[in-house]
Amino acid sequence: MRICCFGDVHYHGARKDLERLYRNIENACIDVDAIAVVGDLTSSGRFNHLEEVLSAIKGAAGDIPVLAVPGNHDLYVLDEEVSRGINSLLKLSLFNELAERLGCVSLMKRPFVLGDTAFVGSIAWYDYSFAPDWLGLSIEDFRAKAFGLYTWADREFIKLPMSNEDFTLMLLNKFEEDIKSIYSNVEKIIAVLHHLPFRRLVKYRLELSWDYFSTFMGSEAFGYVIRKYSDKIKLVLHGHQHDGVETGTCREVEGIRCCNCASPFPTIAVL
Ligand SMILES: [Fe+2]
Ligand SMILES: [Fe+2]
Repeated sequence: MRICCFGDVHYHGARKDLERLYRNIENACIDVDAIAVVGDLTSSGRFNHLEEVLSAIKGAAGDIPVLAVPGNHDLYVLDEEVSRGINSLLKLSLFNELAERLGCVSLMKRPFVLGDTAFVGSIAWYDYSFAPDWLGLSIEDFRAKAFGLYTWADREFIKLPMSNEDFTLMLLNKFEEDIKSIYSNVEKIIAVLHHLPFRRLVKYRLELSWDYFSTFMGSEAFGYVIRKYSDKIKLVLHGHQHDGVETGTCREVEGIRCCNCASPFPTIAVL
């Protein structure tokens, strides 16, 4: 099984970026069984941008199945949307509906089975389980999503009617239900996520402001569920971690191959 994987396009309306993405997919996603898209397709969650970038991906993919999950940026709520009562939960549904309408597979709506392998996906989220103890900060300090002069952009643009911990749990339950639904029908499972499932994948630097924001990279709870089914989950494809870290590389965590696909330049993962 060969999978072409990419994400974190952060498209903001520049046509040349779409054209480059189209060419990259055409050139790199050759002789593959599926294309996995790991979220953050847009910069601001703007619906027309999402439609443009998903259409470009689907056009370049041709007959290859495109399996997509959203990223946190795709759930960003614009000021004019707030006044219309739109929140990030609705944006999540809109992403999933749009992806299906454009001919992609929305992995948060349903797992995808290809031969003896299933793809299961989630945006995943953060519950502060990646917070480094050495900072000596409280959970409230992390909930503030601000450190010194810097803020995590989710603070301003993510609008959830629940805490981040509850949102993580909600997503995790759905992810595990999806695994269970296909578990006995397949030999292998590939997890496609936006946020990271293992603390060991997070780049810490022992620098205050860098490590503070590493907290928002993901959740160990997803790692817990992946470990639980690790007799079949042998590959994790994720996005989200791209600034100041190497992308397009894979690492083993307890026998599970984890590939960072947080770049618009595709990576080929083999299982
Ligand atoms: Fe990103
Ligand atoms: Fe992200």
